[in-house]
Amino acid sequence: ALKLIIDTDPGIDDAMAILYAIAAPEIDLLGLTTVFGNVTTPKATRNALYLLEQAGIEIPVAEGLHRPRILPPFPPTSAVHGAEGFGTLAVPTPQRRALVETAPEYLVRMARAHQGELLLCPIGPLTNIAAAMELDPSFCSNLKGMVVMGGSLRAGGNITPAAEANFYHDPHAADFVLRYGCNMTLVGLDVTNRVICPRSFFVRLASESPKMGGLLHDMAEFYIDFYETVGKFAGCGMHDPSALVACIAPELFTTEPHALRVTLSGDRSGEMITVANSTAQAVNVCTDVQAEAVKQNFFKNVAKLS
Ligand code: BDR
Ligand code: CA
Repeated sequence: ALKLIIDTDPGIDDAMAILYAIAAPEIDLLGLTTVFGNVTTPKATRNALYLLEQAGIEIPVAEGLHRPRILPPFPPTSAVHGAEGFGTLAVPTPQRRALVETAPEYLVRMARAHQGELLLCPIGPLTNIAAAMELDPSFCSNLKGMVVMGGSLRAGGNITPAAEANFYHDPHAADFVLRYGCNMTLVGLDVTNRVICPRSFFVRLASESPKMGGLLHDMAEFYIDFYETVGKFAGCGMHDPSALVACIAPELFTTEPHALRVTLSGDRSGEMITVANSTAQAVNVCTDVQAEAVKQNFFKNVAKLS
């Protein structure tokens, strides 16, 4: 199976992505690293540990950095994922703790230990990933590759008109990672805005998988309420789960190679921009998706969780 680590800011769609990775037989989930974004980093760590505890999985969690590379720390907005990250769900303090090692240290060590075999799937701001690259210049070449939820090529933003949330929360980290020349695929809003699941999807999921599907159903209520208030979609955007599906079913996605940069300040901070005529290394940007197949793949796997 594919050795995988998820860097995450759980977050409702993060929880969906993590449970999918636990359920899919093609994935060997080695650990989680945490970052701020949907919630603060300590809350992200607590939420990650809580979710693993609920799923009965004892893999390591390494806590990541608490603030963006350059920008001042900013308060997470509770409107999308709720003040604690999982909608209106209370998140009790989990039994287990995070590793003593930080997320960048853990990532560097695991990439060395699994030379050429480890796939990294960041589904939050890229702060820890940029730090790991700085810590070990061979970090990228030690990885099998990265599949990143972030950015937007033509779809516009979701947190501002220009920026996707993960890039917006740490534009300097996103820009650093895009310049690095890693083998990498971006699963951004161009495709994730098309993978929308209505309430009925989670009702069905909860009836197939009462405990874990039920947990996602309860979280999704809040997430869908938000999306409906915004008035854009009938249902919620499956951003992070789409990135996880792309790890094992890349054939469901169409990609284009682009050399990319990120706007670092002003109104358009966090916007992903293409660099024309550049000698800079291109990354693969997902531009189209077989949305129904992605949703079915997600459902089929998560429905198996008890
Ligand atoms: C991304 O932002 C977060 O709110 C979601 O968890 C996802 O990672 C979507 O833009
Ligand atoms: Ca996320």
